[in-house]
Order: sequence, then structure tokens, then C-alpha cells
Amino acid sequence: MSERSKTTRLGHFIRDLSNLLDRTADERVILSEGKGLLEDLIMNDDWLPDEFAKPHPKFYSQYLLYCDPADRFSIVSFVWGPGQLTPIHDHTVWGLIGMLRGAEVSTRFELGAPMKSVGVDRLEPGAVDMVSPSVGDIHQVANAFEDKASISIHVYGSNIGTVERHVFDKASGEQKSFVSGYSNSTLPNPWSGVNIG
Ligand SMILES: [Fe+2]
Repeated sequence: MSERSKTTRLGHFIRDLSNLLDRTADERVILSEGKGLLEDLIMNDDWLPDEFAKPHPKFYSQYLLYCDPADRFSIVSFVWGPGQLTPIHDHTVWGLIGMLRGAEVSTRFELGAPMKSVGVDRLEPGAVDMVSPSVGDIHQVANAFEDKASISIHVYGSNIGTVERHVFDKASGEQKSFVSGYSNSTLPNPWSGVNIG
């Protein structure tokens, strides 16, 4: 596939998700139809530029790929180095997590002291998971592999890098606010020479 058409998949996804959000603000519809759009995007692992697929030796990386001008959604490439994992955290907005490369393990939690694990899901390439305050918003995510990187494409119902949310201590249930930011200062070009209209 040429460099030109590599960028088309992300451009198409942006267009289709924008159209969906023009049509509805109903979270259930966004999650179910958005899941189908994300499945289409991650069905092929040939479009993410290498720059946004690079693991960091110490920390998992969050590369912003696109943010809607009205902050209705953002698209982020999460790159897990071998054995890396998040703290237990929430999102406060809807989110879709699509596995592109490798695999990850998501453990869901309920508030409490200690916090109670309420389910473990392993995401393989092509699978999409959902989070939101209405469908379950607290989890911990880990690279399923100790010897290679994994990459998932996340879509959130806001400019997620600027949202104040929470990390949780498993034993005490205590929560602290955090804002994740992003790992990158430049973005890919989803429209390089391609007419996506
Ligand atoms: Fe998460």
C-alpha cells in the first residue's frame, strides 16, 4: 500500500465518526456504531506511521492522532512497551479501545477499600472494548507481553489529554486527580493528497 493510501484509513475514520456525532449525542448509539467504525479502522494494521508506534523504554506512550475541533472526540495511539501497565484509572467520558497489534489485558474494578476486580478481558487484534461512566469506567490495562510492544487505538468523547480524571489506589480505594497529556507534539496527516469526501 502506498504512503498516500496509508493515511486514508484514519482520514475515513475521522470523517465517519464526525458524521456519527453530527447525527447523535446518544452515548449508546455512539458506542455501538462507533465500535463498528473502529473495528473497520483496526482490521488492517498498515496505516499507523512508525513515529506513532514507538514504545518508550520506561513509560507507555499516548500519541494523539487527531482531535475534533470542537473537542467532541480524540483519537490516541497507545503504545505499550514490554510488561508496561497503567495505574487503575477512570476516563469520565465514553471511550472505545481497539487492539491493533500485540495484545493487552484490561482488569475492571469497582470502588471500595480494597477495590474489587469485577472482570478481566484480554484484547486480541481486531477486538474493541468500551468504557464510560455508564458501562463501567474504572480499569487497569497491561501489555499482555513481556517481550514485545503492543498497540491499541483509543477514541474518547473529549480531548482526553486535557480531561481531569482519577487514578486509584487498589488497597485503600483512595483517588487522586490527574491529567494525562500526550506524548507527542506533532500529529500525522490523515489527508495527505487524498480526497476523502
Ligand atoms: Fe483506560
